Amino acid sequence: MTEFNSKIRTIQWVDNCSRMVDQTLFPYEYKYVDITTGQDMFDAIRNMIVRGAPAIGIAGAHGIVLYALELQKEQFSREDFISKLLEKADYMKTSRPTAVNLMWAVEKQKEVIKNSKSDIAGIIEELKQNGIKLENEDIEINKKIGDYGAEVVPKGATILTHCNAGALATVGYGTALGVVRSAYAKDNTIQVFADETRPRQQGARITTLELTMDGIPTTLITDGMCSYFMKKGMIDMVVVGADRIAANGDTANKIGTYTVAIAAKYHNVPFYIAAPLSTIDTSIKTGDEIIIEERSREEVTHINGKIICAPEVNIINPGFDVTPNELIAGIITEKGILRPDYKSSIQEAFRK
Ligand code: MRU
Repeated sequence: MTEFNSKIRTIQWVDNCSRMVDQTLFPYEYKYVDITTGQDMFDAIRNMIVRGAPAIGIAGAHGIVLYALELQKEQFSREDFISKLLEKADYMKTSRPTAVNLMWAVEKQKEVIKNSKSDIAGIIEELKQNGIKLENEDIEINKKIGDYGAEVVPKGATILTHCNAGALATVGYGTALGVVRSAYAKDNTIQVFADETRPRQQGARITTLELTMDGIPTTLITDGMCSYFMKKGMIDMVVVGADRIAANGDTANKIGTYTVAIAAKYHNVPFYIAAPLSTIDTSIKTGDEIIIEERSREEVTHINGKIICAPEVNIINPGFDVTPNELIAGIITEKGILRPDYKSSIQEAFRK
């Protein structure tokens, strides 16, 4: 394994609280906040203090421990404690609808609760340990994704990415940017083009910040520029993350990803998804079943608190779109690179 040494740690369980980088402050401040209650965790996920599919999964898992610590103070019977905690867990899953890693990680905590034979204090300890295990596994999985992905990065490549699927969207290292980090460790002549990613500008505010912090050459472009650079032959491949992948490989990711995938197909640029298996939702057959989050009007009408349009104009603000599987050259996972037909390769990956 050729590993890049990134020091970015997005979220960590520390002293009975969840410590996370506040991503609403980027790029002006890099500051940690401690989340100490279940409701504050729900709000941190909804308001995107923590964001990115794997990171909100871990945040959700931590949130269940925080709820458990609060319920412990109420002196409930063990049975009532468990039933109230399971209710809180289901509530936590509603904090954001699209990224399936949130539901996946909360379900992992629900299994701990349901299978435990311990008293209340013991259940809480098991939940904490499981949260820490999920954190550590996330970094290991990303490094495996990075390793597999680096194999398909051409020498000296320019890699286009959209949104932020980096260390700051995971516990550390990243999925799409994990591929970049592992490739860069082997070949420091590669570089990244980062799409700005309107409306919330995760590409500009987060991807450029984390890549430049790690010294990886990065060029920021606005979302409409990708076809221009593909036509000029300046993009060798696209790697993006995912929020939910259906059983047939259709992939939901940040709004604008679909446009990049269409442009890549037209210009014969390979378009890859990098994601852990926990992002694959085999309970849904196609991307049509993925719930797309609708976000606030202000994300579109304002930049940095300043209005940028006629105040009364109509707004629609879907947070994600779905890229059909036929536009995807491969899905880079911790079990290897899945290729079409995805229905079979996904099933095979879960059997490995
Ligand atoms: O709305 P966000 O910032 O949570 O959206 C993030 C993305 O779309 C990422 O590309 C995706 O979650 C993958 S993160 C490894």
